[in-house]
Amino acid sequence: MRRVLVLHGPNLNLLGTREPAIYGRDTLASIDAGLVELGRTLGAEVECRQSNHEGVLLDWIHDASAAGFAGLVFNPGAFTHTSLALADALGGVSLPCVEVHLSNLHAREPIRRRSLTAPRCVGQVSGFGARSYGLGLRALLDYLTDRDGTE
Ligand code: DQA
Repeated sequence: MRRVLVLHGPNLNLLGTREPAIYGRDTLASIDAGLVELGRTLGAEVECRQSNHEGVLLDWIHDASAAGFAGLVFNPGAFTHTSLALADALGGVSLPCVEVHLSNLHAREPIRRRSLTAPRCVGQVSGFGARSYGLGLRALLDYLTDRDGTE
């Protein structure tokens, strides 16, 4: 069974109460539970982690392949727009990554329109609220099936 690592970056632990007009009212725990369940229906084992620390996210990306994960679904939060280190990490490991965002980055402030990490990803899903994660997971699994066949 394929294993997928879902990573959430800074401030996403506050989902549910953080700027609900932008990010919705779903909590991170409910998003994670939904992803584990969706993974089960799609034949994948999903593990979800969140950190507010760039270095922790870097270590998780570095270790993901050796830990048996086939790919990443990643919402880097504000690090999307600032972190060359996370972009380099994604480029430096051989794991495919789908970048996801709850909000539509392209409808927000100019600084949010630029993603340093997206060019290192298979693709980006942005603007569908909590559903962006499920769409990202489906996209990653389809990508892996196209690349490797069914497992
Ligand atoms: C976000 C968008 C980022 O610009 C912001 O800093 C976040 C959340 C999103 O999911 O819409 O923390 O990644």
